Amino acid sequence: MARTRRPNHKTVTKPARTASRKHEADRSERAHRGGGEQLKVSSRSGEPPTRLTLPERTGMRPVELGPLILTVEPTRDYALVDSGGGEKLERYGPLLVRRPENQAIWQPRLKPDEWWWADAVFTGDVDEEGTGRWRFPHAPLGETWPLVHDGLSYQGRFTSFRHVGVFPEQAAHWSYAEAAIRAASQKTNNPVRVLNLFGYTGIASLIAARAGAAVSHVDASKKAVGWARENQEMAGLGARPIRWICEDAIRYVEREVKRGSRYDAILLDPPKFGRGPTGEVWQLFDDLPYLLGLVRELLSDRPLFVILTAYSIRASFYALSALMGEGLRGLGGTLQSGELVIREAGDEPRLLSTSLFSRWSADHV
Ligand SMILES: C[S@@+](CC[C@H](N)C(=O)[O-])C[C@H]1O[C@@H](n2cnc3c(N)ncnc32)[C@H](O)[C@@H]1O
Repeated sequence: MARTRRPNHKTVTKPARTASRKHEADRSERAHRGGGEQLKVSSRSGEPPTRLTLPERTGMRPVELGPLILTVEPTRDYALVDSGGGEKLERYGPLLVRRPENQAIWQPRLKPDEWWWADAVFTGDVDEEGTGRWRFPHAPLGETWPLVHDGLSYQGRFTSFRHVGVFPEQAAHWSYAEAAIRAASQKTNNPVRVLNLFGYTGIASLIAARAGAAVSHVDASKKAVGWARENQEMAGLGARPIRWICEDAIRYVEREVKRGSRYDAILLDPPKFGRGPTGEVWQLFDDLPYLLGLVRELLSDRPLFVILTAYSIRASFYALSALMGEGLRGLGGTLQSGELVIREAGDEPRLLSTSLFSRWSADHV
């Protein structure tokens, strides 16, 4: 396969130290979602990298179904208790957690004294790291606490990026993936092969493994991969076939394409901006079309699904849909795109939008 020059990426400079607390928190979130455990940001190292030349895809685009809003409802494991005033109040298992939420531009439904009960409040204190950026108003809490999703145990974690080690809206994708993998596993003796790119703390990988898949989990953050491994033990899935790979997603996928590897199902949850472990820069708008082209090369002869999610970007799900439609030409199946939202618990619940997604499904799923 021929190689072409890969375009240079722009250098992103460090924001000024005078940024407000809110902007610091936003910046930390972006840096973390991007896997950068530091704010040192430069272009993809020195030499312009090269890209594989991929075959042009022909054939029909997958049939496009109407927009889909995938809603996460309150459960015993997780509930969006209230939102408003730029914050959200969530229950993660036994703990009430209060943290910033840019989308919540409306007023909270509950009285301030109900928010007062929060066990953990994200302060975004710029002088602190890790749990130091959280306040525990009623009793001191450790960095982690036990959580469950649909019977799967894992660790919640107070990070300095205001995240808690899980993105609960992804539950809509997890249940879809689990059902599709289980159904396919019953029809074959070979395990379904799943690739989870930008896999973070690994809940999707664990759910896929629990359903019988052999999983390759890729993330650029050593810390995140470490947490994901711990979650595997905690979930009692230590014997399941999961390969934990700390690498730049594009680098890994390029190598897999060259090796001729194949996967039946692929999940991608890329940040807007990120960095690979050896300085590779990930820019969603520059790199996603190429990554999707690579993903297409990796699909097996009888693929099940491709799920692409995008957070915090000023774009429409129609853009993700158009990209997936072009990239997956000739595969048949259906394409459905929309938003991932979480419904509040209690009376007159509102919907909190979190991200855009596009999902390709084979006809046999
Ligand atoms: C949006 S989070 C993934 C959330 C996860 N899928 C979930 O549902 O909980 C983005 C992840 O991408 C990783 N990342 C950022 N840049 C990357 C890169 N160049 N290659 C691989 N992973 C990267 C980050 O470390 C982070 O864990």
